[in-house]
Parts: sequence; C-alpha cells; structure tokens
Amino acid sequence: MAETLFNLRLPLPSDAPLYNNLLCDPEITVWLEDRLQYPISYTEVETFVLGKAWLRWAIECDGNFIGMTGLEDYSPQRGVARFFIVIGDRTYWGRGIGQGVIDSVVRHGFENLGLRKIISNYLEPNKASQIIHDRADFVVDGHLRKDCWRCGTWVDQILLSRFRDE
Ligand SMILES: CC(C)(COP(=O)(O)OP(=O)(O)OC[C@H]1O[C@@H](n2cnc3c(N)ncnc32)[C@H](O)[C@@H]1OP(=O)(O)O)[C@@H](O)C(=O)NCCC(=O)NCCS
Repeated sequence: MAETLFNLRLPLPSDAPLYNNLLCDPEITVWLEDRLQYPISYTEVETFVLGKAWLRWAIECDGNFIGMTGLEDYSPQRGVARFFIVIGDRTYWGRGIGQGVIDSVVRHGFENLGLRKIISNYLEPNKASQIIHDRADFVVDGHLRKDCWRCGTWVDQILLSRFRDE
C-alpha cells in the first residue's frame, strides 16, 4: 500500500477538544500509560496539547487532526529525550503514518535538536508499536516484567533507545 501523506505542525487550540474525544476510545488508550486508563479532565488534556513542551507536534492527515507526537523529558546534560506517538483516529492505522512519524521525529531530534540519544517504550502486546520502533532502528534495552495491568493480565513494558550514530 502506498504510504499515506501526513503533516506535522504545532498544536492549535482547536486540537484540544479533538484530542480529548480521541482519548475516549479505549482501543486508542489501552497500550498508553496507566493514567489514561481512567477518565482524565479536559483541563489535563488541554494542558498536554497546548502547554509548554520541548517538542510536541500535532499529526494532520487529509487536513484533519489525527493525533500527537513529540519528544518529552528532555535532559540537556545527557542529550536525551523520550519519543511518544498517539494516532487517535483508528481509520488511519496501518497506512504507514506511524512509521513516517517516528522516522521524522527521530531525524528532527538528531539532526536539528542535537540529541545524542532518544529513548522510548511500549507495552509488549502493542505489535504496531513494536514494528515501527524496530523499523526505526531502536534497540531493546530491557523489559520491565509484568509492569502494567491491561486486559486482565500483567504485561511487560519494553524499554528502547537509539543513538544518533546508529
Ligand atoms: C502504534 C501506532 C503509532 C502505529 O501507527 P500506524 O500508523 O498504525 O503504524 P504503521 O502503519 O506505520 O505500521 C504498523 C505496522 O504494524 C502492523 N500491525 C498492526 N497491528 C498489528 C498486530 N496486531 N500484529 C502484527 N502486526 C500489526 C501493521 O500491519 C503495520 O505493518 P506493515 O507496514 O507491515 O503493514 C498507532 O497504532 C497508535 O497510535 N496507536 C494508539 C496509541 C499507541 O499505542 N501509541 C504507541 C504507544 S508506545
């Protein structure tokens, strides 16, 4: 399938209510962090979308806001930041957008922001996340065994990293 084109841009105020709606879908949030397994306030979502961040971009496709990505937890001393991605509209899954986004953010982090290392993580059952990290040349640093409770069982959290010269 041809890769679907997407655009990465700074978040707009109009993105906050859309992101809030996308996070109401448990299929979107199931492999995200624990705090998103419970209702969160609109203010919290709005602060995430529009608040101060090191690198936070809206993902846009066909002119629609479909999710968020970026680099968080920047440590200037260590030259490290953590990648995240949420494509919150399931109709856009499996069209190569996740791969395109991770490649773009990693490239930007190394080439324009001067990072030495980018870290990331996913929950083991999240196969799509595993695939995009593998293809973006992330290396598994380790497993936090049976770390998160999802779908009636404990699942491992996989920790990954990639260096600029890898
Ligand atoms: C994870 C996520 C970013 C992937 O985005 P995407 O646009 O669907 O990813 P891509 O289309 O680039 O690639 C996904 C690959 O995984 C494959 N895949 C998806 N689900 C799969 C499954 N259950 N088993 C095996 N392969 C699977 C797809 O077929 C595709 O492979 P292909 O290119 O060989 O067909 C997206 O699903 C998402 O945002 N999910 C909700 C939030 C989330 O989980 N974020 C990541 C937290 S670490």
